[in-house]
Amino acid sequence: MSASTFPMVSAATPGREMRAADGLWFGKDLSASEPIPEAAIERAVDLMRSGRLHRYGEQGSGYPEPSLLEQDYAAYVGSKYCVAVSSCGAAMFIALKALGVKVGDKVLTSSFTLAPVPGAIAHAGAQPVLVETQADYTTDLDDLAHKLETSGARVFLLSHMRGHITDLQAVRALCDRHGVALVEDCAHTMGAKWDGRHTGTWGRIGCYSAQTYKHINSGEGGLLVTNDDDVAAQAILMSGCYMMYEQHILSPPNSVFERWKYVTPNFSMRMSNLAAALLRPQLGLLAQRGKTWNHIYAMLEARLRKAPGVSIPERHPKEEFVASSIQFSLALEPAQIQRFLQECELRGLYIKWFGGQEPKAFTSNYAHWHYITEKPVLTKSMAVMSQLLDLRTPLSLTEQDCELIGQIVAAAAATAATPV
Ligand SMILES: Cc1ncc(COP(=O)(O)O)c(C=O)c1O
Repeated sequence: MSASTFPMVSAATPGREMRAADGLWFGKDLSASEPIPEAAIERAVDLMRSGRLHRYGEQGSGYPEPSLLEQDYAAYVGSKYCVAVSSCGAAMFIALKALGVKVGDKVLTSSFTLAPVPGAIAHAGAQPVLVETQADYTTDLDDLAHKLETSGARVFLLSHMRGHITDLQAVRALCDRHGVALVEDCAHTMGAKWDGRHTGTWGRIGCYSAQTYKHINSGEGGLLVTNDDDVAAQAILMSGCYMMYEQHILSPPNSVFERWKYVTPNFSMRMSNLAAALLRPQLGLLAQRGKTWNHIYAMLEARLRKAPGVSIPERHPKEEFVASSIQFSLALEPAQIQRFLQECELRGLYIKWFGGQEPKAFTSNYAHWHYITEKPVLTKSMAVMSQLLDLRTPLSLTEQDCELIGQIVAAAAATAATPV
C-alpha cells in the first residue's frame, strides 16, 4: 500500500464550506515525529553498508550496538542491567516470564492503560486483574491494597499511562508488604522520575518503548532494566541471544547463565543493530526534549483550563513527568463528547477519547478487551475514562499553536454543551 492510499484515522481536511463558522482552523499533524539525528543516520548507513544488522555473531570482534545502548541506558537510569528487545510489549512479556508467571496465573495491572499491557499478560498465558484508576489518572491505592490482599497475584504490572505517575513509594510499600513483585510499564515515562529516581527502577523490572511515538524512536524497540542477576540472565536468553550472552557488556556472571541456559526458551525478541544505532544518539537528547515537552504542556494546560467544563488534575510535587501528550476531563455526557470531537475535527484538531464505545486507532479501554474473563466492575475507572480526552503534543508545537488549540477546545466544548 503506498503512502497516498494509507487509510488515516483522521486525515480529513474538510473543504472551507465544511469548516466551522467561527473560522478557527488548526490543521497540523499531531502525529508528526522529530527527524532522526544525523549521527544516527550515518551510523545506520554504515551498518547497512556492512550488512551486519543482527546483534549477535559467531565471529567478529567488538561489542554490537545494542550492547552499547544497554550500557548507556543502564547508566542513564541507574540500573545494573539493561536488555534491549524488540518492543516494550516484548519487555513486559519477558519480565512476567522471568518472574515466574505461569499459564493461568493472575497479574495485577492498571485499568488505565493501552492494549499492549493486558496483551503482554495474555501472551504469558495469565489473566489481568484490573486495578481502579482515580480522578487524577493515577492508581487508586485503596483498590490496589485490596487486590494485593485478595487476588492471589504475585506480580503488579503498573502502567504509568500517558506519563501519570502513581506515588511510587506508596506502591512499593504496598507491594513489599504483600510480597508482590512490581514491574513498571514506562512506555510513556522515559526520562521521568518520582522523587528524584527514574521510573522503571522502583520495582524488580522496568520496561520502556522506543516505538515511533515515544521519547526516542527506532520505529519499534524496547528496553528492560533490572538489578537482579537471575532476571537479567533470563531476559538475555529469552530475548534470543542463543548462547552468545558474553556479547552483552552488562552481563551477569556465567554461573548465573548456567542456572538458566538449559531451561529458558528463546523467544526471538532481540533488538537489531540498526534499531540500537538509531537510538544511541537520541539518549543525549532526552533532557532537552523533556524540557520542551513540559513547556508545551504548561502552555496548553493554562489555555485548556479556561475552556468550559474542562479540568486537568494537579500533578504531585514529587512527580517529575515528561509530557509527550496532555489529558483533560470534560464534564459532558458521552453524546456531547462525540459532538465535541466532531467540532474539534471541523476545526482541524484531532483529539482522542478513552470513553468511546468502540476501540479506535491506538485508543481503547479495558471494556474493549473481551478476552479478560474476569469481568471487572470498575466504577471509578469508567467514570474517569468516559470523560477523558487525550492530545498528542509533538515537540514542534509553538505558543501560537497552543493558543489556537485552547480556543478550539473552548469553542467545541461550548458548542457541545449547547442543547440541539
Ligand atoms: C501504555 C503503553 N504501554 C506499553 C506499550 C507498548 O509499547 P511497544 O509499542 O513498544 O510495544 C504502549 C504502546 O504504545 C503503551 O501505550
